[in-house]
Amino acid sequence: MHLCGPTADRCFRNLRKVLGKTEPRLQQIRQTHKLRGSPEFRSPCDGNSANGSTLVLDDELHQKDWKMRRFLVAGNWKMNTNRQTGVALAKELAAVAKMQEPGVEVLVCPPYPYLLPVGEALQGSAVQLGAQDVYFEAPGAFTGEIAVDMLKDCGCGYVLIGHSERRHVMGETDEIINRKVVASIAGGLNVVLCVGELLSEREAGQTETVLDRQMAGGLKGVSETDAAKVVIAYEPVWAIGTGVTASPEQAESAHEHLRKWLTTRYNAEFSSRMRILYGGSVKADNAESLLGQPNVDGALVGGASLKSASFVPIIDAARKLAK
Ligand code: PGA
Repeated sequence: MHLCGPTADRCFRNLRKVLGKTEPRLQQIRQTHKLRGSPEFRSPCDGNSANGSTLVLDDELHQKDWKMRRFLVAGNWKMNTNRQTGVALAKELAAVAKMQEPGVEVLVCPPYPYLLPVGEALQGSAVQLGAQDVYFEAPGAFTGEIAVDMLKDCGCGYVLIGHSERRHVMGETDEIINRKVVASIAGGLNVVLCVGELLSEREAGQTETVLDRQMAGGLKGVSETDAAKVVIAYEPVWAIGTGVTASPEQAESAHEHLRKWLTTRYNAEFSSRMRILYGGSVKADNAESLLGQPNVDGALVGGASLKSASFVPIIDAARKLAK
Protein backbone atom coordinates (compact mmCIF):
# COMPACT_ATOMS: atom_id res chain seq x y z
CA MET A 1 0.00 0.00 0.00
CA HIS A 2 1.18 3.47 -0.75
CA LEU A 3 0.67 7.08 0.00
CA CYS A 4 -1.11 9.51 -2.17
CA GLY A 5 -1.30 13.28 -2.30
CA PRO A 6 -2.49 15.47 0.50
CA THR A 7 -6.08 15.46 -0.63
CA ALA A 8 -8.13 12.97 -2.57
CA ASP A 9 -9.03 15.60 -5.17
CA ARG A 10 -5.47 16.61 -5.79
CA CYS A 11 -4.51 12.99 -5.93
CA PHE A 12 -6.99 12.28 -8.67
CA ARG A 13 -5.83 15.31 -10.58
CA ASN A 14 -2.38 13.81 -10.58
CA LEU A 15 -3.76 10.48 -11.62
CA ARG A 16 -5.53 12.16 -14.47
CA LYS A 17 -2.19 13.47 -15.62
CA VAL A 18 -0.54 10.08 -15.25
CA LEU A 19 -3.23 8.25 -17.07
CA GLY A 20 -3.41 10.67 -19.92
CA LYS A 21 -6.69 12.04 -18.62
CA THR A 22 -8.71 8.96 -19.46
CA GLU A 23 -11.77 9.40 -17.35
CA PRO A 24 -13.12 5.82 -17.68
CA ARG A 25 -9.82 4.41 -16.44
CA LEU A 26 -9.87 6.95 -13.64
CA GLN A 27 -13.33 5.85 -12.60
CA GLN A 28 -12.21 2.25 -12.73
CA ILE A 29 -9.39 3.08 -10.34
CA ARG A 30 -11.73 5.03 -8.13
CA GLN A 31 -13.85 1.92 -7.81
CA THR A 32 -11.08 -0.58 -7.47
CA HIS A 33 -9.35 1.48 -4.83
CA LYS A 34 -12.26 2.85 -2.96
CA LEU A 35 -11.50 5.47 -0.41
CA ARG A 36 -10.66 3.35 2.56
CA GLY A 37 -10.80 4.56 6.10
CA SER A 38 -9.17 1.57 7.73
CA PRO A 39 -6.26 2.65 9.95
CA GLU A 40 -3.91 0.16 8.36
CA PHE A 41 -4.20 2.06 5.10
CA ARG A 42 -3.69 5.43 6.68
CA SER A 43 -0.63 7.49 6.07
CA PRO A 44 0.40 10.90 7.40
CA CYS A 45 -0.09 12.28 3.94
CA ASP A 46 -3.45 10.98 2.90
CA GLY A 47 -4.90 11.22 6.36
CA ASN A 48 -5.74 14.79 5.40
CA SER A 49 -7.88 13.90 2.44
CA ALA A 50 -10.77 16.21 1.84
CA ASN A 51 -13.45 13.89 3.17
CA GLY A 52 -11.39 12.46 5.98
CA SER A 53 -10.96 9.10 4.31
CA THR A 54 -7.87 7.54 2.92
CA LEU A 55 -7.09 6.80 -0.67
CA VAL A 56 -5.09 3.72 -1.36
CA LEU A 57 -3.56 2.98 -4.70
CA ASP A 58 -1.96 -0.09 -6.16
CA ASP A 59 1.52 -0.87 -7.36
CA GLU A 60 0.60 -0.50 -10.99
CA LEU A 61 -0.12 3.15 -10.46
CA HIS A 62 2.88 3.71 -8.33
CA GLN A 63 5.14 2.26 -10.94
CA LYS A 64 3.78 4.98 -13.18
CA ASP A 65 4.49 7.41 -10.44
CA TRP A 66 2.21 10.33 -10.30
CA LYS A 67 3.63 12.14 -7.33
CA MET A 68 3.51 15.89 -7.23
CA ARG A 69 6.10 17.31 -9.54
CA ARG A 70 5.72 20.97 -10.25
CA PHE A 71 5.90 21.84 -13.93
CA LEU A 72 8.92 23.88 -14.91
CA VAL A 73 8.57 25.95 -18.06
CA ALA A 74 12.00 27.30 -18.96
CA GLY A 75 12.93 29.69 -21.74
CA ASN A 76 16.40 29.32 -23.21
CA TRP A 77 17.03 32.54 -25.10
CA LYS A 78 20.34 31.23 -26.46
CA MET A 79 22.40 33.94 -28.22
CA ASN A 80 19.35 36.09 -28.91
CA THR A 81 17.81 39.39 -27.78
CA ASN A 82 19.59 42.60 -26.91
CA ARG A 83 19.29 44.62 -23.74
CA GLN A 84 16.19 46.41 -24.87
CA THR A 85 14.28 43.45 -26.31
CA GLY A 86 15.37 41.17 -23.45
CA VAL A 87 14.18 43.58 -20.79
CA ALA A 88 10.92 44.19 -22.65
CA LEU A 89 10.29 40.44 -22.88
CA ALA A 90 11.12 39.98 -19.20
CA LYS A 91 8.66 42.72 -18.24
CA GLU A 92 5.91 41.09 -20.26
CA LEU A 93 6.57 37.72 -18.61
CA ALA A 94 6.75 39.29 -15.16
CA ALA A 95 3.30 40.74 -15.77
CA VAL A 96 1.76 37.36 -16.56
CA ALA A 97 3.56 35.46 -13.80
CA LYS A 98 3.28 37.82 -10.87
CA MET A 99 2.67 35.29 -8.12
CA GLN A 100 4.24 31.96 -7.29
CA GLU A 101 1.91 29.21 -8.41
CA PRO A 102 1.73 25.87 -6.70
CA GLY A 103 1.79 23.84 -9.91
CA VAL A 104 4.01 25.78 -12.31
CA GLU A 105 7.43 27.36 -12.11
CA VAL A 106 8.71 29.71 -14.82
CA LEU A 107 12.34 30.33 -15.66
CA VAL A 108 14.18 32.40 -18.26
CA CYS A 109 17.82 32.04 -19.25
CA PRO A 110 19.05 35.16 -21.09
CA PRO A 111 22.57 35.67 -22.43
CA TYR A 112 25.14 36.58 -19.75
CA PRO A 113 25.36 40.34 -20.48
CA TYR A 114 21.63 40.73 -19.88
CA LEU A 115 21.33 38.74 -16.65
CA LEU A 116 21.34 41.87 -14.49
CA PRO A 117 18.86 44.03 -16.41
CA VAL A 118 16.59 41.07 -17.07
CA GLY A 119 16.80 40.09 -13.39
CA GLU A 120 15.82 43.62 -12.47
CA ALA A 121 12.85 43.53 -14.83
CA LEU A 122 11.71 40.27 -13.21
CA GLN A 123 11.89 41.64 -9.67
CA GLY A 124 8.69 41.17 -7.74
CA SER A 125 7.44 38.49 -10.14
CA ALA A 126 7.53 34.70 -9.93
CA VAL A 127 9.72 34.34 -13.02
CA GLN A 128 13.12 32.99 -12.07
CA LEU A 129 16.45 33.80 -13.61
CA GLY A 130 18.94 31.27 -14.94
CA ALA A 131 22.12 31.19 -17.01
CA GLN A 132 22.80 29.13 -20.12
CA ASP A 133 26.15 27.78 -19.02
CA VAL A 134 28.85 28.17 -16.38
CA TYR A 135 32.49 27.26 -15.82
CA PHE A 136 33.46 24.82 -13.11
CA GLU A 137 36.48 26.62 -11.66
CA ALA A 138 36.41 29.17 -8.86
CA PRO A 139 37.03 32.79 -9.94
CA GLY A 140 40.54 33.20 -11.31
CA ALA A 141 42.55 33.25 -14.51
CA PHE A 142 40.05 31.73 -16.96
CA THR A 143 39.61 34.31 -19.69
CA GLY A 144 36.12 34.49 -21.09
CA GLU A 145 34.57 32.16 -18.53
CA ILE A 146 31.89 32.78 -15.88
CA ALA A 147 32.00 31.34 -12.36
CA VAL A 148 29.13 29.94 -10.30
CA ASP A 149 29.58 32.73 -7.74
CA MET A 150 29.15 35.35 -10.46
CA LEU A 151 25.88 33.82 -11.58
CA LYS A 152 24.65 33.76 -7.99
CA ASP A 153 25.75 37.35 -7.62
CA CYS A 154 23.64 38.27 -10.66
CA GLY A 155 20.57 36.66 -9.11
CA CYS A 156 20.55 33.32 -10.93
CA GLY A 157 18.85 30.40 -9.26
CA TYR A 158 19.36 27.99 -12.13
CA VAL A 159 21.92 27.11 -14.76
CA LEU A 160 21.55 25.02 -17.91
CA ILE A 161 24.35 22.50 -18.30
CA GLY A 162 25.15 20.19 -21.20
CA HIS A 163 22.83 21.77 -23.73
CA SER A 164 23.25 20.04 -27.08
CA GLU A 165 24.76 23.19 -28.57
CA ARG A 166 27.41 23.11 -25.84
CA ARG A 167 28.00 19.42 -26.47
CA HIS A 168 27.97 19.41 -30.26
CA VAL A 169 29.04 22.92 -31.27
CA MET A 170 31.46 23.70 -28.42
CA GLY A 171 32.59 20.09 -27.98
CA GLU A 172 31.79 19.69 -24.29
CA THR A 173 32.32 16.18 -22.99
CA ASP A 174 30.42 14.35 -20.27
CA GLU A 175 33.43 14.91 -18.05
CA ILE A 176 33.32 18.69 -18.47
CA ILE A 177 29.58 18.65 -18.01
CA ASN A 178 29.95 16.63 -14.82
CA ARG A 179 32.46 19.11 -13.41
CA LYS A 180 30.04 21.94 -14.16
CA VAL A 181 27.16 20.05 -12.51
CA VAL A 182 29.21 19.35 -9.38
CA ALA A 183 30.52 22.92 -9.11
CA SER A 184 27.09 24.46 -9.65
CA ILE A 185 25.42 22.33 -6.99
CA ALA A 186 28.25 23.00 -4.56
CA GLY A 187 27.85 26.73 -5.22
CA GLY A 188 24.10 26.64 -4.57
CA LEU A 189 22.63 26.71 -8.07
CA ASN A 190 19.88 24.47 -9.36
CA VAL A 191 20.98 22.63 -12.47
CA VAL A 192 19.05 21.79 -15.62
CA LEU A 193 21.10 18.92 -17.03
CA CYS A 194 20.35 18.47 -20.73
CA VAL A 195 20.63 15.10 -22.44
CA GLY A 196 19.52 13.86 -25.84
CA GLU A 197 20.49 11.80 -28.83
CA LEU A 198 21.45 12.81 -32.38
CA LEU A 199 19.25 11.73 -35.27
CA SER A 200 21.89 9.24 -36.41
CA GLU A 201 21.96 7.75 -32.91
CA ARG A 202 18.18 7.41 -32.84
CA GLU A 203 18.18 5.82 -36.28
CA ALA A 204 20.85 3.37 -35.17
CA GLY A 205 18.66 2.38 -32.21
CA GLN A 206 21.10 3.90 -29.73
CA THR A 207 18.84 6.44 -28.03
CA GLU A 208 18.75 4.73 -24.66
CA THR A 209 22.45 3.90 -24.68
CA VAL A 210 23.28 7.55 -25.39
CA LEU A 211 20.93 8.77 -22.65
CA ASP A 212 22.42 6.28 -20.17
CA ARG A 213 25.92 7.45 -21.00
CA GLN A 214 25.03 11.14 -20.68
CA MET A 215 23.17 10.58 -17.41
CA ALA A 216 25.94 8.47 -15.90
CA GLY A 217 28.57 10.96 -17.06
CA GLY A 218 26.71 14.09 -16.01
CA LEU A 219 25.72 12.76 -12.59
CA LYS A 220 28.97 10.95 -11.78
CA GLY A 221 29.64 11.19 -8.06
CA VAL A 222 26.47 13.24 -7.46
CA SER A 223 24.78 12.05 -4.27
CA GLU A 224 21.03 11.80 -3.84
CA THR A 225 21.04 14.95 -1.71
CA ASP A 226 22.90 16.87 -4.39
CA ALA A 227 20.86 15.40 -7.22
CA ALA A 228 17.78 16.93 -5.59
CA LYS A 229 19.08 20.22 -7.06
CA VAL A 230 18.98 18.78 -10.58
CA VAL A 231 16.25 18.85 -13.20
CA ILE A 232 16.79 16.70 -16.29
CA ALA A 233 15.90 18.07 -19.74
CA TYR A 234 15.46 15.50 -22.49
CA GLU A 235 16.17 17.27 -25.75
CA PRO A 236 16.51 15.06 -28.81
CA VAL A 237 19.03 16.95 -30.92
CA TRP A 238 17.06 16.32 -34.12
CA ALA A 239 14.12 18.23 -32.63
CA ILE A 240 16.01 21.33 -31.51
CA GLY A 241 15.35 24.39 -33.61
CA THR A 242 14.20 22.21 -36.49
CA GLY A 243 10.46 22.55 -36.12
CA VAL A 244 10.35 18.75 -35.87
CA THR A 245 9.01 17.81 -32.46
CA ALA A 246 9.24 14.40 -30.85
CA SER A 247 5.76 12.93 -30.73
CA PRO A 248 4.25 12.80 -27.25
CA GLU A 249 4.81 9.03 -27.34
CA GLN A 250 8.48 9.37 -28.31
CA ALA A 251 8.99 11.93 -25.56
CA GLU A 252 7.18 9.82 -22.99
CA SER A 253 9.16 6.73 -23.90
CA ALA A 254 12.49 8.55 -23.43
CA HIS A 255 11.29 10.17 -20.20
CA GLU A 256 10.13 6.84 -18.85
CA HIS A 257 13.53 5.41 -19.64
CA LEU A 258 15.25 8.31 -17.86
CA ARG A 259 13.05 7.84 -14.81
CA LYS A 260 13.94 4.15 -14.71
CA TRP A 261 17.58 5.11 -14.95
CA LEU A 262 17.14 7.43 -11.96
CA THR A 263 15.44 4.64 -10.04
CA THR A 264 18.37 2.32 -10.66
CA ARG A 265 20.98 4.96 -9.91
CA TYR A 266 19.20 6.41 -6.86
CA ASN A 267 15.88 4.89 -5.79
CA ALA A 268 12.22 4.83 -6.78
CA GLU A 269 11.12 7.43 -4.30
CA PHE A 270 13.78 9.88 -5.38
CA SER A 271 13.16 9.18 -9.06
CA SER A 272 9.46 9.90 -8.59
CA ARG A 273 10.32 13.38 -7.34
CA MET A 274 12.82 14.27 -10.04
CA ARG A 275 11.55 16.54 -12.79
CA ILE A 276 12.23 15.65 -16.41
CA LEU A 277 11.55 18.40 -18.96
CA TYR A 278 11.11 17.93 -22.68
CA GLY A 279 12.81 20.29 -25.12
CA GLY A 280 12.85 20.49 -28.90
CA SER A 281 10.48 22.68 -30.91
CA VAL A 282 7.96 23.03 -28.09
CA LYS A 283 5.28 25.48 -29.18
CA ALA A 284 1.84 26.65 -28.15
CA ASP A 285 0.15 24.05 -30.30
CA ASN A 286 2.06 20.99 -29.08
CA ALA A 287 2.74 21.99 -25.46
CA GLU A 288 -0.37 20.51 -23.94
CA SER A 289 0.01 17.10 -25.57
CA LEU A 290 3.69 16.91 -24.57
CA LEU A 291 3.21 18.20 -21.03
CA GLY A 292 0.18 15.95 -20.63
CA GLN A 293 2.44 12.87 -20.72
CA PRO A 294 2.85 11.22 -17.34
CA ASN A 295 6.62 11.58 -17.19
CA VAL A 296 6.94 15.00 -18.80
CA ASP A 297 7.26 17.63 -16.08
CA GLY A 298 7.80 20.76 -18.09
CA ALA A 299 9.48 22.20 -21.15
CA LEU A 300 12.78 23.74 -22.10
CA VAL A 301 11.84 26.12 -24.86
CA GLY A 302 14.16 27.83 -27.31
CA GLY A 303 12.65 29.67 -30.29
CA ALA A 304 9.16 29.99 -28.85
CA SER A 305 10.51 31.56 -25.64
CA LEU A 306 11.68 34.68 -27.48
CA LYS A 307 8.25 36.28 -27.68
CA SER A 308 5.71 36.41 -24.91
CA ALA A 309 2.99 35.69 -27.47
CA SER A 310 4.52 32.27 -28.12
CA PHE A 311 5.90 31.55 -24.63
CA VAL A 312 2.91 32.47 -22.47
CA PRO A 313 0.61 29.88 -24.12
CA ILE A 314 3.15 27.20 -23.13
CA ILE A 315 3.02 28.43 -19.53
CA ASP A 316 -0.76 28.41 -19.80
CA ALA A 317 -0.76 24.81 -21.04
CA ALA A 318 1.19 23.83 -17.91
CA ARG A 319 -1.18 25.84 -15.74
CA LYS A 320 -4.15 24.09 -17.25
CA LEU A 321 -2.66 20.63 -16.68
CA ALA A 322 -1.59 21.51 -13.14
CA LYS A 323 -5.12 22.39 -12.09
P1 PGA B 1 13.85 24.99 -29.66
O1 PGA B 1 15.11 24.86 -28.68
O2 PGA B 1 12.64 25.11 -28.78
O3 PGA B 1 14.10 26.21 -30.48
O4 PGA B 1 13.81 23.74 -30.48
C1 PGA B 1 15.06 24.11 -27.51
C2 PGA B 1 16.39 24.16 -26.80
O5 PGA B 1 17.42 24.12 -27.48
O6 PGA B 1 16.45 24.24 -25.56
